[in-house]
Amino acid sequence: MTSAPLAAVTGAEGFIGSHLTESLVARGYRVRAMAQYNSFSSYGWLETLAPDVLDQVEIVLGDVRDPGSVRGLLEGADCAYHLAALIAIPYSYRAPHSYVDTNVTGTLNVLEAVRALGTPRLVHTSTSETYGTARTVPITEDHPINTQSPYAASKAGGDRLADSYHASFETPVVTLRPFNTFGPRQSMRAVIPTVIGQVAAGERVITLGDLRPTRDFSYVKDTAAAFLAVGTAPAERVVGRTFNSGTGTEISVGDLVALIAKVMDVPIEVREDTERLRPAASEVMRLVADASRLTAATGWEPGHSLEQGLAHTVEFFRDPANLARYKTGIYNV
Ligand SMILES: NC(=O)c1ccc[n+]([C@@H]2O[C@H](COP(=O)([O-])OP(=O)(O)OC[C@H]3O[C@@H](n4cnc5c(N)ncnc54)[C@H](O)[C@@H]3O)[C@@H](O)[C@H]2O)c1
Repeated sequence: MTSAPLAAVTGAEGFIGSHLTESLVARGYRVRAMAQYNSFSSYGWLETLAPDVLDQVEIVLGDVRDPGSVRGLLEGADCAYHLAALIAIPYSYRAPHSYVDTNVTGTLNVLEAVRALGTPRLVHTSTSETYGTARTVPITEDHPINTQSPYAASKAGGDRLADSYHASFETPVVTLRPFNTFGPRQSMRAVIPTVIGQVAAGERVITLGDLRPTRDFSYVKDTAAAFLAVGTAPAERVVGRTFNSGTGTEISVGDLVALIAKVMDVPIEVREDTERLRPAASEVMRLVADASRLTAATGWEPGHSLEQGLAHTVEFFRDPANLARYKTGIYNV
């Protein structure tokens, strides 16, 4: 009898990581899931997964900034998915050193562990923020990198290390560069949960930053499917390459709020808050993906429209047990 393959996941307790963990189990994997060490022994969103999923998940508290911790996570794994990161742009203005420690040094630790252990496949997570405001649309993987925030710079640093490890040591790494992702379990630092969460809590006047930037929003199950696509495709199609994932459609923040109001069937009034405005040269004004390279290599395509994804997200936030996990009354940085 052959046992199920083992996938190691960093950032597994987070938003995308918890959905990826579910998707991996559904595909027949056992998952060794890193949740960041904390004194509350909190496993984040992993605590909310169904018992039959958790049966296949070994949760390990650790930290990607610690090489031994990462190596222990990857020991014996058939593949690794590196999602752990500090992700908030506003907080990266305040605490940039921690972004370099986590997103650059943390990625280096993962690459070193893969190299030392001979892990057959690593999926490294980038972000569309590394492109900065689109110079040409839709954005292909050949678009210049233009890091407009310490967050974007730290993610691009991790990406460059991943590329260099493939070039120098033939490390079997593939980089997935998701555009904006949304859905159940996302923290209220992102615009969609901020709006839906506050409206679900009874607010009708929502405070936001700039309403003009456009983004390409993918439903989280589609992003998880993109991770699996590059994690399981034949090596010659994906290893050593970078792949965008996104829908190819863009919407401004202002139009998005109007769409959420329609999906939730409530009027929403928006107030602009200068505290939430980013320095002008740091705000990424336009992002829209060309994901044709990913589709050509793996057959991946998005499976949910924006409206469908929003409807699932609204359903999640309208459940009082879910809403109780959020602080809807504060600006979550
Ligand atoms: N959400 C998006 O729209 C989006 C878009 C593009 C790329 N990404 C990338 O996807 C990945 C997951 O992001 P997310 O949206 O799920 O955010 P998230 O904050 O929910 O997940 C990140 C996880 O990393 C963990 N982490 C942070 N520091 C750590 C450390 N030192 N050691 C171990 N774990 C640590 C956090 O606890 C968290 O659970 C990140 O790499 C992010 O850059 C996200």
